Amino acid sequence: MLAEVAAGLAAPQKELPPKYFYDQRGSELFEEITRLPEYYPTRTERALLQGWMPELMAQLGTRTLIELGAGSAEKSRLILDAMRATGLAELYVPIDVSASFLSQTAAKLRREYPGLRVEPAVADIAEELNLPRRIPRPALFAFLGSTIGNFYPPAAIRLLARVRAAMAPGDRFLLGVDLRKDIARLEAAYNDSKGITAEFNRNMLRVLNHELGADFDPEAFEHRAFYDTGGHRIEMHLVSSRDQLVTIPGLEPVVLARGESIRTEISSKYDRESVAALFEAAELRIEAWPTDPTTPFGLVVGAPA
Ligand code: SAH
Ligand code: AVI
Repeated sequence: MLAEVAAGLAAPQKELPPKYFYDQRGSELFEEITRLPEYYPTRTERALLQGWMPELMAQLGTRTLIELGAGSAEKSRLILDAMRATGLAELYVPIDVSASFLSQTAAKLRREYPGLRVEPAVADIAEELNLPRRIPRPALFAFLGSTIGNFYPPAAIRLLARVRAAMAPGDRFLLGVDLRKDIARLEAAYNDSKGITAEFNRNMLRVLNHELGADFDPEAFEHRAFYDTGGHRIEMHLVSSRDQLVTIPGLEPVVLARGESIRTEISSKYDRESVAALFEAAELRIEAWPTDPTTPFGLVVGAPA
């Protein structure tokens, strides 16, 4: 973590990886974001899953759900319900970097789905999936919420290729992607009126203070989120509201000028062509994209190319 933070803060545009939003509080703040009126992705994706999973699960006969960045697994229940309806549901593997939140999720799911084996895996999916050895097939690998958009394209391709490599014949990949749309709507989703997204953004500094003994003052940073049209992505930054020096044990002091920012997240927005390019690079093919292209969010089924 220290090496990653050191490299990010030494870059001309200071940058920290978004996985550091997610301690227990960060995961809870994200849950709050999903309920905000401005944050359309979660409820749109939920409606798509509701409409489509019963048919898809019946068609695929899925016995295992493996979910990357599972979080609260709130929407995953729609997949699990559809699997249960076929009588084939055996195993759920939620993977997440947020360890304590993940174990809460797993405990809740064990209570709600008594016949289902739940085997959570703590992993940084940019590095590994940490899958159990025995997986009943066919499996569905799911990556929901457009979390793929938080990875730069080369890392996103490596991640998809890792999923592809873990797939057996008959397995499928279900990817949720936020689609390009009106800039005002996109920017509103990352600048909510209650300031929850701003707190989520600042939470990264609290995580660094806690994990590395740094002395960031979260109140000395402003939240900024904007759409970069050329890059087709939202960028979130923390902007230093004064000249300041931050101490992180083991590193040179970090100098921040007033107005200087640390980029904390990109959230890429897609269209069919850009998803097809990612899939092709990871040796996956789009098998189905049943949603209407005018919906603000896409659910895509992939299979090995
Ligand atoms: N899938 C849920 C949660 C999305 S929030 C939904 O659609 O609502 C993103 C989730 O991915 C969080 O739970 C976060 O802890 C996890 N996450 C982010 N970066 C990660 C990484 N590098 N490795 C593993 N999990 C990660
Ligand atoms: C988890 N991820 C897909 C969210 C997003 O929309 O990029 C994280 C988030 N950042 C700000 N609001 C929500």
